[in-house]
Amino acid sequence: MTSSLKSAPEPRALARTSTWPASRASESAPDSHSSLVTRHSSLPLSAGIYGIGSCVPDRVLTNADLEKVVETSDEWILTRTGISERRIVAAGEATSDLATAAARRALEHAGLSPADLDLIIVATITPDMPFPGVSNLVQDRLGASRAAAFDLGAACAGFIYGLATAKQFIANGFYRHVLVIGADTLSSVVNWTDRGTCVLFGDGAGAAVLGPVPDGSGLLAFDLGSDGSGAELLCVEAGGSRLPASAETVANGQHTIRMNGAEVFKFAVRVMEESTLRALSLAGMTTADIDCFIAHQANIRILDAASKRLGLPADRVFNNVHRYGNTSAASVPIAMVEALEEDRFKSGDTLALVGFGAGLSWASTIMTWTR
Ligand code: UT7
Repeated sequence: MTSSLKSAPEPRALARTSTWPASRASESAPDSHSSLVTRHSSLPLSAGIYGIGSCVPDRVLTNADLEKVVETSDEWILTRTGISERRIVAAGEATSDLATAAARRALEHAGLSPADLDLIIVATITPDMPFPGVSNLVQDRLGASRAAAFDLGAACAGFIYGLATAKQFIANGFYRHVLVIGADTLSSVVNWTDRGTCVLFGDGAGAAVLGPVPDGSGLLAFDLGSDGSGAELLCVEAGGSRLPASAETVANGQHTIRMNGAEVFKFAVRVMEESTLRALSLAGMTTADIDCFIAHQANIRILDAASKRLGLPADRVFNNVHRYGNTSAASVPIAMVEALEEDRFKSGDTLALVGFGAGLSWASTIMTWTR
């Protein structure tokens, strides 16, 4: 498995000097709820990202490889999506493997250890198995013995939903260090005979370690949304409580992705613009304040159309969809890692992150990069 973040910069000083009660930082076991409530007197008011990391599988699936699988061409895929290649897991490799590796790199980047974690949230729609959660498996493999853990859905918007959830736990004083992972292995639910979808997706994971930061920095504003009336536009029909797995559902291909690409495309362009503007407004900012726009990497045409509508110049819009395709919940954090590595943003810069996908759901955040 490969990752993009090469070196671990110095841990941020703030991690050691925040206003968090010193007694809380040195505890080795979780507090009871009542003791947490009594400690709200010196709450941090915001949360920020201390470190990020990513992991993609080693195996590369190129457009030329796909030409041998379905009736398609490198030219069609490239011009209609911007994708050149994607990463696909090896046999036996699963979402929790990618998630754990990404988490280790994020912890290293943050200068923290698994024992520092209070909570692990994994955003995924392709868990290793229906239950237990990927978060439980990651918690065990990291040895994060103090951490609570749960999975979160929200598809390609899942990582930003995870950041929003983590921020609440940190800002209300319940937890100090929260690990948020976006990880998916969509290759496990792709219909490899459907050329309309199988060329689009790849596997990967990205992670962020969050902690308290001074008010006015870190995660400044969120816009989260859902339009469940569009649920059927992008779904895996079977394998849940309505259509449990059976020989018939397997024979009908109902365990694989079904998508109305044109409708999802229109939704994506519209919601990326609207959601980003709402989050900017909540942060008291405009598009002129965005130093780096990091959106869900689904299709370069969606990204181009949305950034044009927002009036963002190309040098402030990051994309890496050509290398990984659509990695669902992993795409925003993988893009963040690569953008940082390419010096596309630095300490003090304002980032806009936006995700959209099945649900239909969407999420965006405006944040200051404080490392
Ligand atoms: O996380 C969110 C997930 N989903 C998305 O973001 C997807 C959003 N939608 C899209 O990105 C685009 O709609 C697609 C890339 C899926 C499709 O692009 P399009 O420009 O909307 O193409 P289309 O579906 O309108 O298809 C145009 C033609 C059709 O042929 P006919 O009917 O015009 O003869 C398709 O059969 O292209 C054909 N086609 C292909 N041809 C070669 C569809 N897929 C392929 C393919 N190779 N892989």
